[in-house]
Amino acid sequence: MTHPKVTVVGAGQVGATAAELLLLHNLADVVMIDVAEGLPQGKALDLMHMRSVEGFGPCVRGTNDYAETAGSDVVVVTAGLPRRPGMTRDDLLASNSAIVRSVIASAVAASPDAVFICVTNPLDVMTYLAWKESGLCAEKVFGMGGVLDSARFAYAIAEKTGADIADISALAMGAHGDAMCVLPRLSTVKGRPLTELLPLGEVEALVQRTVLGGAEVVGLLKAGSAFYAPAASVVSMVRAVLEDSGQTLPGCVLLQGEYGVSDVFLSVPARFGRSGFLGVTELALDDAETRALQDSAATVAASLDALGLRG
Ligand code: APR
Repeated sequence: MTHPKVTVVGAGQVGATAAELLLLHNLADVVMIDVAEGLPQGKALDLMHMRSVEGFGPCVRGTNDYAETAGSDVVVVTAGLPRRPGMTRDDLLASNSAIVRSVIASAVAASPDAVFICVTNPLDVMTYLAWKESGLCAEKVFGMGGVLDSARFAYAIAEKTGADIADISALAMGAHGDAMCVLPRLSTVKGRPLTELLPLGEVEALVQRTVLGGAEVVGLLKAGSAFYAPAASVVSMVRAVLEDSGQTLPGCVLLQGEYGVSDVFLSVPARFGRSGFLGVTELALDDAETRALQDSAATVAASLDALGLRG
């Protein structure tokens, strides 16, 4: 059986975990590529040793050579430095900009028809940079941010209320960082808005736990940042593309006037399928929510302008 081909750039914590999930879910043959010699090859071999135990069909190989990534259907970019305790995602701007630029140039040359999904932080800025550097249309380049933030909100709600995670629908939009827009009014337990279930103070505490969810993990790990949930989140987006599902997921996409925001990549509910980002599923936000999203966009725009990327 032939499988689609997914390249994962960066064979670190997020990249290797994403590769593992792609295999376990039988979604795609995977090529892991990294600058570190031996790392992607060693992890790929270890994953292939798991194949008879888990009984998955697709294969993975590791490489340092973009020639082996040629003709990929999807390229997931996880290359870059992760946060250390006390760092914000924005502290990674300079180092990860250089990495994302070089990765995208090589990856697009090898797979000009691929859909590119960015995971590297600071996510919203790196996704814009990846799009600009790629020369591709905005349909083909998007980022993973809102899926993870929404999943973290769902967990916080489940932990607080004791509700089954399957009964929770949680939504976080906007920047993947401190300016995130967590939306309790549009998040539900068994269809009931969170704002009707819990007092305001408790809702606010869950929002804060969500915004700081990544930092909480960094603080506990002390070395490196979160990777299980980020990997699962990006794999859910790869699945939507490979299965051409048209699924609505909160993804980091180019906004062109939606919610009054333009020329910024930001997480909003959007549809994803075989050709990539298919369109924004625009929600009816109230005035305060719209303002919060626009403020969130302004923080990302400021970083983009500081890098001289817009216009
Ligand atoms: N090309 C390919 N791989 C690279 C490059 C490059 N130019 N530069 C760095 N890498 C690789 C590193 O060698 C390392 O193996 O990227 C990998 C990153 O892995 P980790 O350090 O384990 O980081 P990880 O936790 O996976 O996070 C990666 O995702 O969530 C974000 O903030 C996080 O930006 C970070 C990225």
